Amino acid sequence: MKGCFLVFEGPEGAGKSLQIGRLAERLAASGVTHTVTREPGGTATAEAIRSVLLDRPELRLDGIAELLLFSASRRAHVEEVVRPALKRGEVVLCDRFELSTRVYQGWGRGVAAKTIDQVTRAATGGLLPDLYLVLDVPVRVGLDRQGQDLEDPGQLGFFGPAPDRIELEKRSFRERVRKGYRELAAEEERIAVVDGSGTPEEVEGRILGLLDERFPDRFEGASFPL
Ligand code: TYD
Repeated sequence: MKGCFLVFEGPEGAGKSLQIGRLAERLAASGVTHTVTREPGGTATAEAIRSVLLDRPELRLDGIAELLLFSASRRAHVEEVVRPALKRGEVVLCDRFELSTRVYQGWGRGVAAKTIDQVTRAATGGLLPDLYLVLDVPVRVGLDRQGQDLEDPGQLGFFGPAPDRIELEKRSFRERVRKGYRELAAEEERIAVVDGSGTPEEVEGRILGLLDERFPDRFEGASFPL
């Protein structure tokens, strides 16, 4: 069977990893071979670049430097993980892909769309997902789910790990990111916005509905109750 590349996107705190885990469980239960992976990461090279990008808030990186580093990490990830899994005919569930770069480095940091496009093509060889599922939640909800303070995103709440470089960004950055996702979704068929509010079960129901609609045969078994 042909591989299928599904990418989950959205702001921090939208519940991507939770939903990817649930879908992976369903696929396993219905015997669909799949690979779960994430950006920036998924290979030793990509993990090393990830730690420069995210774990070192003291490093000074502008939008272009971030674009290049995320793209280098993406290169390794596409070649070593994504393409081989698609070639084997698997469903690939990936946490973030080039849409994150367009939105965070483009809308967030102001890097020109043309520059992002050129670098991304070099990194991915033009590979795009079959579908992007953007989990959309208001900025306030995302921050609450992360346990962060809205006025001071660097301030930790009661739970959650220390915020990374990008999570330390201010609210206006997060608002631009959300707008970027929504506007790009309005322009591109490949990008679907899923309402990420409500309970995990409600969000999961919306995701399964969307997959049924877009890929009528492929995910049939996976939408049955577990
Ligand atoms: P991660 O710890 O994976 O967080 P999340 O659970 O929110 O996905 O961190 C990824 C961070 O990197 C997140 O803030 C988005 C950002 N990012 C970019 O800015 N550009 C990119 O191309 C990618 C893939 C991620």
